[in-house]
Amino acid sequence: MCGIVGYVGNRPVVDILLDGLEQLEYRGYDSSGVALKLEDEIKVYKAEGKLINLRNTLKPHISEIMSSTMGIGHIRWATHGAPTLLNAHPHTCNCGNLVLVHNGIIENYKELREKLSAKGCVFRSQTDTEAVAHLVASKYAETKDLTEAVRLAAQEIEGAYALCVMHNDYKNTLVVTKRNAPLLVGIGEGEFYVASDVPAIIKHTKKALYLNDNQIATLTPDKMLLIDKDGVEVPQKIELLPWEPVALSKMGYKHFMLKEIHEQPDVIRNILVGKLHAPDEPIILNEVKLNKDTLKNLNRIQIIACGTSLHAAMVGKYLIESFCGIAVDVEASSEYIYRKTVTDAHTLVIGVSQSGETADTLTAIKQAKAKGSHILIITNRPDSAMAREADSLVPVNAGIEVSVAATKSYTAQLMAFYLLALYMAEIKGSVENSTMTSLKEEMMLLPQKIDQILANTDDVQKCARAFANTKDFIYIARGINFPTALEGALKLKEISYINATGYPAGELKHGPIAMLDETMPVLSILMKGSVYEKLLSNSEEAKARNARMIALTNSSDAKLVDLFEHILYVPDVQELFSPLIAIVPLQLLAYYIAEFLGKDVDQPRNLAKSVTVE
Ligand code: F6R
Repeated sequence: MCGIVGYVGNRPVVDILLDGLEQLEYRGYDSSGVALKLEDEIKVYKAEGKLINLRNTLKPHISEIMSSTMGIGHIRWATHGAPTLLNAHPHTCNCGNLVLVHNGIIENYKELREKLSAKGCVFRSQTDTEAVAHLVASKYAETKDLTEAVRLAAQEIEGAYALCVMHNDYKNTLVVTKRNAPLLVGIGEGEFYVASDVPAIIKHTKKALYLNDNQIATLTPDKMLLIDKDGVEVPQKIELLPWEPVALSKMGYKHFMLKEIHEQPDVIRNILVGKLHAPDEPIILNEVKLNKDTLKNLNRIQIIACGTSLHAAMVGKYLIESFCGIAVDVEASSEYIYRKTVTDAHTLVIGVSQSGETADTLTAIKQAKAKGSHILIITNRPDSAMAREADSLVPVNAGIEVSVAATKSYTAQLMAFYLLALYMAEIKGSVENSTMTSLKEEMMLLPQKIDQILANTDDVQKCARAFANTKDFIYIARGINFPTALEGALKLKEISYINATGYPAGELKHGPIAMLDETMPVLSILMKGSVYEKLLSNSEEAKARNARMIALTNSSDAKLVDLFEHILYVPDVQELFSPLIAIVPLQLLAYYIAEFLGKDVDQPRNLAKSVTVE
């Protein structure tokens, strides 16, 4: 993770860097820092914790540093070394003349550290990055050329990196390079911006160049030189970013997470526009570029994702198998990439990712692509690295999600799977016409059902207050809502730090039931349908072990009142669409518990929104 920014031009750099870092705070908030080129020296300022601490650190120095027109900045999510001031970026060589920021992981940093220490370099931090600062400095000592020093150093580095480097000998030059980590250069009039992601630069320019792996760009205010790893100049592919600057506002909500939960009905409405006009009309999904015959004959799909996106993928498997009868495997990207997978040119591989930058998923889809599979990407970021690998790109258009805990992007991913599964079913003719029409009717009603849930959250808040001080939480479900149990538990643990686990209810008796007693809340996702009665029995079994029972249900079954201490009611819905409805009260429950506990809801500890390291 981590985010980097840089600027070289004619304008005061401090605010450009700080504003850019603010836009990248979703990538980490363990520490931040900037390095600024002044007349004869480079000044480095760092602070532990959130960006506000760096702003405060800089305040007393403003008059001294305002004249600087070149600098680099960093926001850290700690990988190597604790989140301390010493480990904060930028890092420097021993004389302080060479300064750099880094996003990624240097895998051979120990070897580099030993080699450089033997040459006399003194290491001050525990980071992998500091080894790169010393390495580039040692190459600079030999070559007296910053671009060449970066190029030679890059050849000795193993792992993932985006680097932005400056040297005190250069009044107005930044050198940047990358491998397996995102980096783009924004192009202004007599100025260049560097950033890990678009939001950091979009306020200033829409013209940008996405660096390819192993390319090196040397930026001076009026020129960019782009070379490959052999030092040969390469053409510059300048793009117009399809973005408008957005003022990120909580719109009166206390947290972005709550605002994003409440945006879900509109997100779903927007997704349906242009794709489903009426229940008796076909689904339009021009984004799928597989030809119809190939689609009809597909017999294997693999879906790869992480975290919340993995839970959406699990629902996707259920849908595609139910509607289309095609076998689907779902796998965590981090597991997929380190085993011998049976993926080939006849497999459709679907990557799901809010950010489109998650390192594990990106690596997994690159591996699948190399095996000849058609790659379909479902993402909220059509400008991301994953989108650039896609043969078919299905954007979910949930809008920027600021809160680290994914909410609206999850429901948007579910919608993408509903559309995809039904679109494929229409091509295959695997669902009867009358059933298809009723499914589409239901799909069009989903936004107003979620509106109904959001219109009155009193019961959820009451339940949150009742369970806020619990240490553990168990979520049970069966069938298509097992992923809902996993996602509900993930939401709770990531923002409240309560130990929460989702189980397929039938598995309780194979071990987890041993944990149940009068202190353990068990939340049963009891949606009407094929497994309702079975789940009810499993809930009885938990109740018989004195667990504190909560139901999330669309059933008016009178016997629930005796069985459950709290009941969260949701509108009635066909079983196959129930994950989209059931998740909303669970997002709210997690939110209100965390809020009640006074947790940092939007930026929970140890997490970052975009996980660009393996
Ligand atoms: C949880 C959450 C994470 C992400 C995961 C994958 O709320 O947001 O679990 O889902 O890091 O990220 P993407 O979807 O960007 O690939």
